[in-house]
Amino acid sequence: MLALGAASLGSVYSHVSQAHADATVQTALDLGVSLIDVAPYYGLTRAETALGHALQGVERSRYTLATKVGRYGDKAWDFSRDATLRSLDESLRRLKTGHVDILQCHDIEHGDLKQLVEEALPALRDLKAQGVIRYVGITGYDLAVLEKIAVEQQIDTVMAYCTFTLQDQRLGPVARRLKTHDIAVFNASPLGMGLLTRKGPPDWHPGHETVHRAAAEAARICTEAGSDISRLAVQWALRQAAEHGIASTVIGSSSAANMRDNVAAMSASVDAALLAHVETVLAPVRDKGWDVLPGNGGKAGQ
Ligand SMILES: NC(=O)c1ccc[n+]([C@@H]2O[C@H](COP(=O)([O-])OP(=O)(O)OC[C@H]3O[C@@H](n4cnc5c(N)ncnc54)[C@H](OP(=O)(O)O)[C@@H]3O)[C@@H](O)[C@H]2O)c1
Repeated sequence: MLALGAASLGSVYSHVSQAHADATVQTALDLGVSLIDVAPYYGLTRAETALGHALQGVERSRYTLATKVGRYGDKAWDFSRDATLRSLDESLRRLKTGHVDILQCHDIEHGDLKQLVEEALPALRDLKAQGVIRYVGITGYDLAVLEKIAVEQQIDTVMAYCTFTLQDQRLGPVARRLKTHDIAVFNASPLGMGLLTRKGPPDWHPGHETVHRAAAEAARICTEAGSDISRLAVQWALRQAAEHGIASTVIGSSSAANMRDNVAAMSASVDAALLAHVETVLAPVRDKGWDVLPGNGGKAGQ
């Protein structure tokens, strides 16, 4: 299942007008993409505000909404109970809705895990018991931390990013194990935060330059073959998701045309020869995330 990641609506990749945000969200909904993920951190509240505007007038039952608590700046985490409850209130106001479906603690490995376990997660469980949210989630990049906390704390949903793509596939076995605990797994950033696009990653992308070079070569090969690396990457992520029990693939876009392409990629046939060629080009940098091969120190995560 494809979901819309709304980080880009907060202009984190490039400036996005409200008109573009509205058109992207409307296109996604019209194409049957009904899960939308956002966070207060994205564009420092701008993504939630833009999304709230885009969803005005849309029947609430048409979409499932996921947002986050706990991350409020590039280096600002707060998993206290007060901040968690306040954050949800503010998100609801920006999103112009009375409830979110999935509330996730954002990029947990960078925050205070003791505070997460003792304050934020109990607060989320209370909200779930009160019917304000339906599911308690955690998100992040460090798969070992995500798996440990998810299992120990009986979390409902786990969102990992940039770890289940044509270039990095480490989430696969973790997702299969989490599924045995009935934990739903979301694969965010199937394009590796812009890495697997013709345009290439943004300058803040934390990956190593050898990874960037290999991805650029893979993109060139796809273009030369009359295809597009993004299409291949979406197809790979969606097909492999089914095999690894991944509940949803969360792709970010601020473009109605790209959303149409992404949905079309789901049903288009895969160019197996091109895929094999691209996999060969990416093999030397397979699973080389910035935790393994640190990049230029760019801002980690979304
Ligand atoms: N820690 C976390 O919780 C976490 C971390 C990362 C991501 N996420 C979630 O996952 C979502 C997706 O991640 P992401 O947006 O960072 O990365 P992504 O989905 O891997 O890549 C997004 C980039 O790809 C481009 N793109 C999308 N479709 C395309 C197409 N068909 N052709 C060419 N380019 C295309 C987008 O540009 P356009 O806007 O021009 O389409 C954007 O620049 C986020 O919005 C967020 O909801 C969560």
